[in-house]
Formats: sequence, C-alpha cells, structure tokens
Amino acid sequence: MYEIVDLLEKLMDSALVEQIWIKYIGKLPNVSILNESKTVARLSEQLSRDMGYSIKMSRQIGIAAALHDAGKMLLAPEIVYKQSKLTPKEFEVIKTHTWLGANMLSNVHDDTNKLIQNVCLLHHEKWNGEGYMGIPSCCLPEYISIVAIVDVFVAALSKRSYKEAWTLDTALGHIQQLSGSHFSHELVKTFLRFISGNKQLQFLIAG
Ligand SMILES: [Fe+2]
Repeated sequence: MYEIVDLLEKLMDSALVEQIWIKYIGKLPNVSILNESKTVARLSEQLSRDMGYSIKMSRQIGIAAALHDAGKMLLAPEIVYKQSKLTPKEFEVIKTHTWLGANMLSNVHDDTNKLIQNVCLLHHEKWNGEGYMGIPSCCLPEYISIVAIVDVFVAALSKRSYKEAWTLDTALGHIQQLSGSHFSHELVKTFLRFISGNKQLQFLIAG
C-alpha cells in the first residue's frame, strides 16, 4: 500500500509546483522537500477555497505554501536530512530556515510578494505564542495558520527520522490535540471538516 503522502502527491499538479520553484528560486530543491511542498501547496490551496477565499487568493496561498521551507536549501544537508534525532544545537540551526527563506525571497516583486515572505517567516508560529519567534498566530494573517496546519498534517503523514508515517486517523487525532495550543479551536474544527469532507482524498486512502 502507498503511504498517504504518496497518494496526496498524485493530486498535485507537479509541473506547476516545479515551475513555482524555478520561477522564484531558480532551481528545484531536494526531492523530499519538493514532494512535501507539492502536497502542502495543494492542500493549502484547497483548504483556502473551502474557507471561502477567492480563487486568486487561494492560488497565491498555494504558491506561498509551495515555498514555505525554501530556506532549508541554505542549510547544511547533513542537518536537514539527518536520519536521527536532532541535537538542541542542530534544532536551533533548523529554526533559521524561516528567516533565511523570507530573506532569500525578499526580492520577489509580484502580488504574491508579501504572502510568500510572511509564510516563509511565520509558518512555525503558534496560536498560544510558543512557536519559533513567540508571536501568537492569532495576531497574524489567517493564511499563515492555513499553511501551518496543513504543514503539520502532512508532516504527521510523512516518515521522519524520529517516527514512522502515521495513519490518517492518527494524524487527525494529532491535529485535534493541538486545538487551542498550536492552532485555534475554530481552525482545527474547519480543518477536520475539510479533510473528512474531501471525497477525493478519502477515496485515495481507501484505495
Ligand atoms: Fe518549516
């Protein structure tokens, strides 16, 4: 059976996300970052539409989501792709990918400019203010939390050096547990409704 993330990836217009990376970064990232960025982009765009954002704004959120981890390209691969648990010092290095990405993309001069930089810089902030920079995400534009919740969900469904890929139920349970801390109760409810109502996703998982 495929991993769920493999299946989700098939939903994404792969060529489009690759074009986004070439346009804004000039090259493609490592295949694992590229594949996850496809899934995060696709689901962020779909969730935004589901929440009532316009087609244009949802697409812009999808573009920003595709590039959310771009700063990791500037870090040492032996830390980014380490196959065992990160040391506290290595984790501090990983945390820099937010501002490195925002800085790398600061020369974007189109209507996605602000979204891309904000998503790169702020996607690890939390509702309760216990994220990387300690900014409560309730003070930030909602689209940042949209990308953030999708990012956490996709990470839960993915294999990591410190864990196996979780099942859909386990991943959704994890999101539920983060309600009121990492994410607002309202966003978690919306997200769970979005996933449970996503027939295409349900069909692929069942298959
Ligand atoms: Fe990140």
